Amino acid sequence: MKHNMIYVCAALLMMGGLMAGCSNGAAVSSSAGQQSSEAESYDINYMVLVNKLNPLPEDWEANLKVEHCTNSLGDDVEVEVNAYKEYLALKEELEAEGIHVDLDSARRTVEAQQEIMDRFTEKYGADYAAKVVAVPGYSEHHTGLALDLYLNVDGKDIIENEDLVQYPEIWAKIHDKLAAHGFILRYLEGKEQITGYAYEPWHIRYIQDKEKAKEIMDTGVTLEGYLGAVNETDVTVDLGKSAVYSEEELKEMAVLIKCQFAAWKDCELHSIRYAGDEAVSEENLKWINSMSETAEYVKVAEFLMDFHSPKVSENAFESDMEYKNYQWWLGCDQEGSWEIVSWGY
Ligand code: DAL
Ligand code: ZN
Repeated sequence: MKHNMIYVCAALLMMGGLMAGCSNGAAVSSSAGQQSSEAESYDINYMVLVNKLNPLPEDWEANLKVEHCTNSLGDDVEVEVNAYKEYLALKEELEAEGIHVDLDSARRTVEAQQEIMDRFTEKYGADYAAKVVAVPGYSEHHTGLALDLYLNVDGKDIIENEDLVQYPEIWAKIHDKLAAHGFILRYLEGKEQITGYAYEPWHIRYIQDKEKAKEIMDTGVTLEGYLGAVNETDVTVDLGKSAVYSEEELKEMAVLIKCQFAAWKDCELHSIRYAGDEAVSEENLKWINSMSETAEYVKVAEFLMDFHSPKVSENAFESDMEYKNYQWWLGCDQEGSWEIVSWGY
């Protein structure tokens, strides 16, 4: 498995024990001293949007109420109180069907997120890190409402993310039950240009309102789209045909570009396509290497994009304009790690 298939949770494991889940009967301490299954009522916005463009609200931590649970590996996991109650109900329901989930990381401090970001940036480069790890202060995990699950299959913990993605049928069954507990799946496959992150079947988000959760899950809309923060248009992705790169590799590159694009405020992605093997030349490889002071690329690839700039642009783009055949150049280093080297005309 190439290392760029390893997601953020795998790193948590390597960091030493943050990956464990809350076992049945885990020690639970309530910040409010309650053990009731009733939702605790307090002033918190369960629909809060935290993403690449929206940081954690400043007053969030002052209002947040959390539960601590000690998981099966003895690690402390912190979750928002009502999210935790519903997680336990979800877990019990799944267990009745022979599906065993556990909780790994839930609420993270800005410092913990920084540690993850530093580690990923050092190990895999900034672009890959941006695809799987939120910038500290901009992680949904800060809210306490985002929970990363892992599986126990045939008595064996499935913890690493590249292993977790091998169980789509189990995830489908889990995802089917989320809405009834006020959870949604947050990082959807194919919506990376909106969410800003690669697909994460394990990352669930508590929004409390079960009807809204059902609508979101049934329609397959992102939280961003549901809240009207973006216009969720369809995006055409054309990986074309390549005699040089595998489909998996081209997909990885496209997701990388889409994750970068998500940080471009109010831009609307229309299409993205592989520019073809003609761009894979020694000359272009030399050219992208000349743009980087540190990286040594051994492969080069070009993608093209059509997108629309914001009605009133606050960035470098012209307002309300369709950008066609916008170029993206990517380089791959010796370890097989792709990154974006340049974009523009
Ligand atoms: N893995 C998610 C995007 C985070 O770091 O918050
Ligand atoms: Zn997560």
